[in-house]
Amino acid sequence: MTISIVPQDPVSRSFFAGEVSGIDLRKPLTAEEVAAVHAGMDRFGVLIFHDQMIDDEQQLVFSRSLGPLEQATGDIAAPQDRRMSMDLNDISNLDKNNKVLARDDRRRLFGLGNQLWHSDSSFKPVPAKYSLLSARHIPPTGGNTEFADMRAAYDALDEKTKREIHDMICQHSQIFSRGILGFDEFTPEERVKWAPVRQRLVRRHPTTGRLSLYLASHAGGIEGWPVPEARAFLRDLTEHATQRQFVYAHVWKPYDLVMWDNRVTMHRARRYDHTEVRDMRRTTLTNEVSSLEQAP
Ligand code: OGA
Ligand code: MN
Repeated sequence: MTISIVPQDPVSRSFFAGEVSGIDLRKPLTAEEVAAVHAGMDRFGVLIFHDQMIDDEQQLVFSRSLGPLEQATGDIAAPQDRRMSMDLNDISNLDKNNKVLARDDRRRLFGLGNQLWHSDSSFKPVPAKYSLLSARHIPPTGGNTEFADMRAAYDALDEKTKREIHDMICQHSQIFSRGILGFDEFTPEERVKWAPVRQRLVRRHPTTGRLSLYLASHAGGIEGWPVPEARAFLRDLTEHATQRQFVYAHVWKPYDLVMWDNRVTMHRARRYDHTEVRDMRRTTLTNEVSSLEQAP
């Protein structure tokens, strides 16, 4: 089998969201396949793999062949309540007995933060590189995932704005993103664990050299700016970056795996019926360095 990657929408989005065929993620990848996947990520920012009937172990082997993983320390599940190891993020609405979480369950309400535009782990000092999301069970309708191309969004800014934001540093915290939804029941330990971290607003991709807007709903401040002005500006930039021409909406089929580069994209989940099962598992590669080290 040889890997082939074609744009999902060659007419209006030839450089964003590639569809991959000719690869079986149940088997360890060859060095050539690993190189092709990285090259595809550099080009498309999002890669879509269909019909990959993998289990957690196979997802872990595939993910580790691309680079070191980060740990799932960004959720609020107590260790005894987890359905899976710390190498996997549980992106589901299930408890450890595989029962759908109650509508007012704290873990569910916290997880609704995924419905706001974000980049994974931007609230950690060393954020995420790639995320790999495998759909094991999906609801009959709803629950799409949308991706925004932050390279194209950066390129489309006017020159004055590009100059203004060139060296801006934002403060990111899960306390900010959840606050947007009115979720503020954090324990004192969580408030310490999720104290704001610094990230560049404009970062350079280490291999392609392209610049992108590094935004997320976790961003709640800009260094040196009054908070309301910073939030109004970040909201403006987010509105700009998530215009439809920059967005690919993924409609899931069971056993799709979608992989995205958090350095050059934002994403969000869309609503679905909270009584239906949605079971997705995410592995996440660490960026290994802070965005502060990826200056334009
Ligand atoms: C994630 C995420 C969106 C979704 O896995 O990081 O934000 O649609 N998922 O579940
Ligand atoms: Mn996410």
